[in-house]
Amino acid sequence: MKSINLNISFEQYAGIEELTLADRTLCELSEKALASSYSPYSKFRVGTAIRLASGETILGSNQENLAYPSGLCAERVALFSIGSTYPNAVIESMAITAQTDNFEILKPITSCGGCLQVMAEFERKQKTPIEVIFYCLNGEVLKVPSVKSLLPFSFVEDRLER
Ligand code: THU
Repeated sequence: MKSINLNISFEQYAGIEELTLADRTLCELSEKALASSYSPYSKFRVGTAIRLASGETILGSNQENLAYPSGLCAERVALFSIGSTYPNAVIESMAITAQTDNFEILKPITSCGGCLQVMAEFERKQKTPIEVIFYCLNGEVLKVPSVKSLLPFSFVEDRLER
């Protein structure tokens, strides 16, 4: 038996003012994306902005449904939109933020496992890391250098491809 430890490194910023201009802009766009959230059931708005290597930025927000499992998280809305509109796009970075009228969100929200798995697939497909920025409105920002850091044991069964 061997005991193995995995370490992940990420950056923590007190606020978006500490970010580079490009990252700050991405966070601000993720906030803008909150406006299109359709979340009458959870009342929890999530927005994302994804920067492509082409320079273009794609926005997404969570879209809910009366039949709960039929809704989709903001991250997957934006990622699948990129997959279908720009199938060869390379993603550089994505920023994610959330907001609710019910309480003040005091820490950055981090993506659910299903979204991480989809993000991992995009990263694997493009063969370059995708930076992930979790932005708490008017608060702290966490920046992770790759999806692999967030989900080191993602499902990557290469034999499925043979
Ligand atoms: N949600 C996201 O958009 N992204 C996540 O990573 C986690 C949760 C959405 C789904 C649902 O519309 C609302 O947040 C409450 O769970």
